[in-house]
Amino acid sequence: MQNLATRKVFLACVILGFGFTCYILFFNGELRRWTTLGSRITSWTENCVSSITGKDLRAGNDTVNSASDVRSVVISGNKPLQLCPEKPPIAETKVPLNLTNVTYADLKREFGHVLRPGGHYAPITCKSRERIALIIPYRNRERNLFILLHNLIPFLMRQQAEFAVYVVEQTQDYMFDKGVLIDVGFVKARQDGDFSCFIVHDTDLIPRDYRNVYRCSDKPRHLMLNRSGEQRKKPEKLPYSAFIGGAIALTKEQFEKSNGWSTAYYGWGFEDDDMEIRLKSHGFRIVRYPIEIGDYYELGHTPQKPGPRSKLARSVKTRMNSEGLNTLNYTLVKQEKREIYNWYLVKPPPPPPEIYGNNTR
Ligand SMILES: *[C@@H]1O[C@H](CO)[C@@H](O)[C@H](O)[C@H]1NC(C)=O
Ligand SMILES: *[C@@H]1O[C@H](CO)[C@@H](O)[C@H](O)[C@H]1NC(C)=O
Ligand SMILES: *[C@@H]1O[C@H](CO)[C@@H](O)[C@H](O)[C@H]1NC(C)=O
Ligand SMILES: *[C@@H]1O[C@H](CO)[C@@H](O)[C@H](O)[C@H]1NC(C)=O
Ligand SMILES: *[C@@H]1O[C@H](CO)[C@@H](O)[C@H](O)[C@H]1NC(C)=O
Repeated sequence: MQNLATRKVFLACVILGFGFTCYILFFNGELRRWTTLGSRITSWTENCVSSITGKDLRAGNDTVNSASDVRSVVISGNKPLQLCPEKPPIAETKVPLNLTNVTYADLKREFGHVLRPGGHYAPITCKSRERIALIIPYRNRERNLFILLHNLIPFLMRQQAEFAVYVVEQTQDYMFDKGVLIDVGFVKARQDGDFSCFIVHDTDLIPRDYRNVYRCSDKPRHLMLNRSGEQRKKPEKLPYSAFIGGAIALTKEQFEKSNGWSTAYYGWGFEDDDMEIRLKSHGFRIVRYPIEIGDYYELGHTPQKPGPRSKLARSVKTRMNSEGLNTLNYTLVKQEKREIYNWYLVKPPPPPPEIYGNNTR
């Protein structure tokens, strides 16, 4: 403890309530490595806090409480956080899934103290490379939604993502219109903040590999490449090369230029394929990680009622610039900024009778 910088950091460490952990780290060789790299409290905290695992976050480990204190001290000390590393520092690849049924109260108990309202999280030790709006179109699958969030929130934390969660639920009036819900999620997130990446995510699919980094690029990135689970015993790879279902990461530009999802598809089927055509027609080639990385666990659910998709599938290119984000029409029945996610209850306009007849539910 000769060196002034060393002493300062040791003191900061103790003040921040990390006393014991820091002591261990300091005399574990960490400090020696660190002093030769230069005296930066940010890089030190990175070393110190990177030892927190997803499991600790789940367990509501006190370390996390003190870590959020570190964040505020580091910020108020006018020392800007450094950018997080390009590649999240996670040694293992396999995500330890927890498929236990959970309630909202469980989520609140486990994550309430690390999330700000709307499920907003930012890494403690570095400035995230991405601000993600996680958009989840939803109806009647509460068990899946909660299991998904129980796994996805610690997954994103470990990937050092900054994120907020947008759950957009449809009222019971008509067949499911996933496109409206996604577009509403996008519009709401765009209003809320400066998100660099919009990840549209099904409720029933949980990533199983940490290398599946939830990030955008100059090309749309389709994330879900292989799935198996409760009802799908045999793994299924991409059913066809144009498939973009499950989870996809889009920048604001990619979303807006393509005019978002079509809102014309009520019932199951083809709305994602329609979006794939929109993206490609606007010059966005879709990219994917290797298949072993895009591995997902699929929760079971009762199937959606199929819509009359073939009628619409033929007219994608004539509709794509004149129907979608730029004609979005919906009734916002309710909205709440909950602890774990932003919640919107949305009623789409009635399905047009020329396509759906009286078959609207
Ligand atoms: C909390 O996290 C620290 C650092 O990872 C670990 O050493 C400790 O065992 C954890 N405590 C509990 C109760 O899980
Ligand atoms: C899974 O989550 C439940 C509910 O939070 C918890 O009680 C259980 O200990 C967890 N299981 C594992 C293996 O982490
Ligand atoms: C979890 O929830 C599902 C659906 O609500 C139910 O069928 C299942 O029995 C539950 N599993 C356990 C272990 O409680
Ligand atoms: C797909 O996922 C299953 C289950 O995790 C795995 O056994 C299989 O090897 C994966 N397929 C590929 C091509 O990675
Ligand atoms: C929006 O939908 C409502 C019905 O929900 C309808 O009355 C209204 O005319 C629609 N507005 C536009 C601009 O299409």
